[in-house]
Amino acid sequence: MARIVGGLTTSHVPAIGGAIAKGLQQEPYWKPFFDGFLPVHAWLDEVKPDVAVVFYNDHGLNFFLDKMPTFAVGAAPEYRNADEGWGLPTLPPFQGEVDLSWHVIERLVERDFDVTTCQEMLVDHAFTIPLKLFWPRGCPVTTVPICINTVQFPLPSARRCWQLGQAVGEAIRSWDSDKRVVVIGTGGLSHQLDGERAGFINKPFDLKFMDSLLHDPEWATQYSIHELVEKTGTQGVELLMWLATRGAVPGFVRKVHTNYHIPISNTAAGMMALEALE
Ligand code: DHB
Ligand code: FE
Repeated sequence: MARIVGGLTTSHVPAIGGAIAKGLQQEPYWKPFFDGFLPVHAWLDEVKPDVAVVFYNDHGLNFFLDKMPTFAVGAAPEYRNADEGWGLPTLPPFQGEVDLSWHVIERLVERDFDVTTCQEMLVDHAFTIPLKLFWPRGCPVTTVPICINTVQFPLPSARRCWQLGQAVGEAIRSWDSDKRVVVIGTGGLSHQLDGERAGFINKPFDLKFMDSLLHDPEWATQYSIHELVEKTGTQGVELLMWLATRGAVPGFVRKVHTNYHIPISNTAAGMMALEALE
């Protein structure tokens, strides 16, 4: 059966992609952010995952407000990136892991998650930038993208995203394959891009949330979506991807590395790398 090697979570601010394209990683503004990934590169070189299952939220590239699935799972042989209008370089397609996609979809529907299946799917900065951060020399893994709606209300609850993560983790571990899988969650941490609270950041909450993922991973499920928006900002609610990731990597974990840096663009940029111990 397939093995989950661990979970990786990171923010996915588009400006990061611009900095990578311009080679600004060592500039004073960017260095504290990019340096946070160096220990993770060493860990990935060691554990050598074959596949990445990526929880992320599309921001209007593949799904727009007219059709917005709550949960969508990619089942495509490849995932193309396209111009989102941020001035980001468009990346070559990412390879899918179709057999795992369908296995995950079947297990999820069996467990009463009524997911949308996508045999074609464009992937935006929330998918491409984290993969570039974790594998700067090029993406060596095949992928299964899983989209969670954090763009248009109503959003799935934190509890439901935790349960989705658990079900995805069980599906991966029951996949008849000897491949090694890393689970990735992208988004957050606290940020708000619009309205009166634009620029809102909540460092105490972010740090408590990161700590909870190590020692008390269901802690954030006590909050409603409106409470999470109040505490983390309208886009900070993207932390649901981190919760789903930890749901998929249950039990005890070893902290490989964490980083937290304020701000990158409008966002409190966080990163966690957790190794699965069971
Ligand atoms: C920013 C953050 C995001 O999560 C995003 O999707 C777009 C922009 C920002 O802080 O600029
Ligand atoms: Fe975002």
